[in-house]
Amino acid sequence: MASEQQMKNPLLVGRAIRAQLEHEVPQDLPLERDFREDSDYTITDHVQELHKSLCKDPRTLELITSLVSHLHAFARETQLTHAEWTKAVKFLTRAGKESTDYKNEFVLLSDCLGLSALVDEINHPKPPGCTDGCEPGPFYTEDAPTLPSGSSLAKPGTTGESMIFIGSVKNLKGESVKDATIDVWQADGDGVYDIQYPDREEPNDRGKILANPDGTFSYRGILPTAYPIPSDGPTGDFLHALGRHPHRASHIHFTLKAPGYDELTTALYPSHSPFLGTDPVFATKKSLICQLTEERDSKRWAELGFKEGEVRGGRVWVWKYDFVLPTIEQVEQVKAARAQKSKQ
Ligand code: BEZ
Ligand code: FE
Repeated sequence: MASEQQMKNPLLVGRAIRAQLEHEVPQDLPLERDFREDSDYTITDHVQELHKSLCKDPRTLELITSLVSHLHAFARETQLTHAEWTKAVKFLTRAGKESTDYKNEFVLLSDCLGLSALVDEINHPKPPGCTDGCEPGPFYTEDAPTLPSGSSLAKPGTTGESMIFIGSVKNLKGESVKDATIDVWQADGDGVYDIQYPDREEPNDRGKILANPDGTFSYRGILPTAYPIPSDGPTGDFLHALGRHPHRASHIHFTLKAPGYDELTTALYPSHSPFLGTDPVFATKKSLICQLTEERDSKRWAELGFKEGEVRGGRVWVWKYDFVLPTIEQVEQVKAARAQKSKQ
């Protein structure tokens, strides 16, 4: 392939073409075959044939062959017009131009098309009885502090009502999982993540919690509320065109890690939240919805670890959940069984 510099210099172009001819003459496809739509050898066959004769990497060939076949089928099925295709290209160009470090429009589109949820299902299948997973979203950061169970994750002054999360990590036999780390990140009571505040100086509402030896853990913090995914770009227009809204039900994100167990990334949702059934990113699952209780007895607040004057709003929300992790082998067995089934 001639480089940009070579293209500007006719002498170098000639040299590049000679080098190509001498060293890697590509196998031309016979052009006498007609690939008009109504012939028995279509443009789809022609593209696939060319890739088959030139592509050396089997997985690349498999992925692109399938992609071409589905894209061409889509164009035929919908009889895609020039105007529609031009609009789609402009839309994707905008998605590229408007993406930033914290707002990747392609990831958002993948989420809103249900593709991220599907890829997660394929890669982390859960044996029955295990906690379901869901995608992490864009607000995870690496800088969360590592903290013992029982810590507070919310800095003083964080907006919202007080909450305690009480959890445990078990395996499918009901045994406590040893040495579990629970990475937690969540929005505050205004539905805003710390990194969305321009004056953020340190992590807030996030932490890597070390579970107790018996697999139990807790943390004090703020009850998160619902919030919209970034909707000021092409993904927002996409949702609008489909009559959908950008609001995610309130939730807490978790990534659980423990030696010998499949890593679990998931989120939990309080049953009182709006938008549970119309999640823009298809990450809300029935099994992840939790019934919270309220603790209004101020004597109990100290027992739960809250300091004098720390509780706001006259109540503490109590959120309990027992996570169940599959072992790495159990997940591999599910994948192998699925692969077997897809071959039949
Ligand atoms: C979130 O839960 O934070 C999220 C997930 C997917 C897209 C945008 C946000
Ligand atoms: Fe989130």
